[in-house]
Parts: sequence; C-alpha cells; structure tokens
Amino acid sequence: MIILGIETSCDETALALLETRIRDGVFECKVIASEIHSQADLHSPYGGVFPTLAKREHEKKLVPMLKELLENQGDTDNIAQSETFSLLVEEFRVEFRDQNTDLFDSFEQSPFLSHKPQIDAIAVTEGPGLEPALWTGITFAKMLSRLWEVPLVPVNHMEGHVVGSLLNSDIPEGEWQALKPLPTPALALLISGGHTELVSITHSNLSNFKYSIIGQTKDDAVGEAFDKAARLIGLPYPGGPHISKLAAQAREQNISSEIKLPRPMIASKDLDFSFSGLKTAVLYAVREVEKSGPITEEFKMALAREFEDAVTETLSTKLKKATEQTGAQSVIIGGGVSANTMLRESFQRIANEYGISLHLPSPHISGDNALMIALAGALDTSSTTREIRAQGTKKLGV
Ligand code: KG4
Ligand code: ZN
Repeated sequence: MIILGIETSCDETALALLETRIRDGVFECKVIASEIHSQADLHSPYGGVFPTLAKREHEKKLVPMLKELLENQGDTDNIAQSETFSLLVEEFRVEFRDQNTDLFDSFEQSPFLSHKPQIDAIAVTEGPGLEPALWTGITFAKMLSRLWEVPLVPVNHMEGHVVGSLLNSDIPEGEWQALKPLPTPALALLISGGHTELVSITHSNLSNFKYSIIGQTKDDAVGEAFDKAARLIGLPYPGGPHISKLAAQAREQNISSEIKLPRPMIASKDLDFSFSGLKTAVLYAVREVEKSGPITEEFKMALAREFEDAVTETLSTKLKKATEQTGAQSVIIGGGVSANTMLRESFQRIANEYGISLHLPSPHISGDNALMIALAGALDTSSTTREIRAQGTKKLGV
C-alpha cells in the first residue's frame, strides 16, 4: 500500500509518500518521499505563528508541492483534464472555495491531478493544531480523496510524533524497514511548541496503541517557553534552536549565569509541568539587568544556558519519575523540542541508567512532518470510516 501523508497543523506544510507491507507478519515500510516547507521566516517578524498567514501559505504551497512530489515519481506533464475532474471541481467550488479560495484556485488550475497516481490512501492531520491551518490540509485531503476515490485516514498530530520516532530511517528512496521494537509498558515524552505530555503506552500492537496521558503542562508548552524566552532576549522565532546555540557558546566559553531560574514543579509528586513561571523569571531577569543599560551578548548567552539547564533538569526529573512509576521498558521522545542536543543527551543518560531503550526521532522528522502522519495513518487504517473534523476525536493532546 502507498499512503500520502498531509500535515498542515501549524507552520510547516508537509507531504510524504510511504509504502507499507506486512512481511512474515511484521509491519514494514519504505520512505518514498518526504517534503517539508517551513514558514518560519514568514512568521519570524511576529515572534510566533500568525494563523491566517499560515493558512494562506499552506493554501499556496500544497498543490505545487504535490506536483513536485509526483513529478519525481513519474511523468505528470501533458495530462489532459478529465471530465470527472471538471465535474468534481464544480462541486468543490460550491463546497470549499469560500473558505479556501487560494487552495481551490490552484487545484482548479492543475489538470495533472486528473491522473490518479499510485496512491492507495491519504492520511491527514486532523488535530490538534491551529484551526484555519488544519482545515486547509483537511480540505485538500478531502478533495484528493474524492477525486482519486481513495480512503481518507484522519490522524492525530501527537500520535504522529509518537510513531515517527519509531522509524529507523527517514531517507527517501530508502530500504524496506521494520519499526524499532517497543517493549511495553512504554512511555512517550512529547515536547513541542503546543504540547508537553507524558503518555503511557500499555499496548504495542502496532495498529492498536493504547495511550493514556499521565502528565501534561498546566500552562505553556516547553517549546512555547523556548520561543517566548528567546523573544525576550531578542532572538528570532522559532527561538528553540537559537537559545540552544547561545547556550552551547556559553558552555564553550565557560560563561554561567549569576541569576538562577526556577525548575518549575520539579518537587511535585505528580507528572505535570508548568513553564509559564520560567518565562516570567526570564522577563524579570532581563528587566532587572536593563535598569543599568542594554543587555549584553554575554548576559544573553549566560541566561540561555541557564534556561536550557532549567528545562533539561525539569523534563529529565519528570521522565525519571514517570519511568519509575510506570515501570517503562522503553521511552519514545517526540516533537520539535526533541531536536535539542542537551535534552537528547540527558534522556540518553536516563535510558542508560534504567537499562531501557530510548527512541529519538531522526533530525529531519523531529519537527512537524508528513512522514509521521503517513505512518500513523498506515498503522491506523481502521479509522477511515470516521467523520473527519479539525482537532480530532482521539485522546492525545486534544
Ligand atoms: O513539533 P514542532 O515542530 O511543532 C509543534 O507541533 O509545535 O515543535 C516546534 C517547537 C518550537 O517551539 C521550537 O522552538 C522548538 O520546537 N525547537 C527547539 C529546538 N528546535 C525546535 N527547542 C529547543 N531546542 C531546539 N534545538
Ligand atoms: Zn508537532
């Protein structure tokens, strides 16, 4: 089976093609293609994602990106517009044009879509995410599924981050691969711009994961805290990588902060998180120093280091606690913040200490991508009959 993945929940427009099979009773997959268009530069001046701008950019990008993806798989030139295409376009005009004008217009002007490619199902992120952005991907997926008469599989974005970390390789045109083994009970720590969640996974029948959220943030997500802290010290959006870079420079140059930031909820017995106080502490630290002049590069470096240390200590302590409480045999880390080197090293130390396996996403798919959506969809084709709606009906992060 070949499945097309579509991801538009936030500020990445992403498409992927994944081939799957069952061989000797084992699920295997092969990455055919995975394209990600980041809108980060577009949102950077606003210091965060601007939903209507994100929607418009998704609308403009989806059809051309699909064209490129299919071109690389075979010839999409000189395809005459079919009668079915013309008829359906008229239906879509009535149904979708008002809400998704740019998307509809580029769809209408693309007769290459008349030709059904070798695609057996379409998986699309239905949530959680930014509503206008989600609807763009869902509408596109609906149009394609009706045009090509293939089933549509709604996918929970956070579930995508869980299964994405089980891929051994994300290299397109790669080899057939089985997923990483996941001894249960397992844990997933999902750390992104919108979520901070500890999830217990009690079943690892691949097409029927059983999730329960055992810890989550009470306010800001950890990625959001990185982005807000970065903004406070004048770094561009998304702030995570910038903070991390400055922190690394501070360590290299042996610069440390005189100001100690809090480690929020580190001593609490539960597995919940809170990051808004950390952001506020950064704000006060900056204000205090600014009383005697503009903040220096050295101060920024020191504070970035202290911030990264505070986040690492907080997440690591909760991960340890959750490992002990659940008796986890393996841990999955997912979400954009998992690109952070300090965090990766700390999580690896914890896994070594407890003698359990750690599954980190490969760098290309630590942030939002469509490969994880195609994979989650392929593992969960049972949900095709469900009515699709933005924000989803499943449990993770909704
Ligand atoms: O999963 P993701 O791509 O999008 C959401 O679903 O939110 O995560 C994006 C978040 C942003 O907050 C970004 O600053 C953060 O991931 N991030 C990082 C790093 N790279 C991305 N945070 C810390 N260190 C990094 N290296
Ligand atoms: Zn994400």
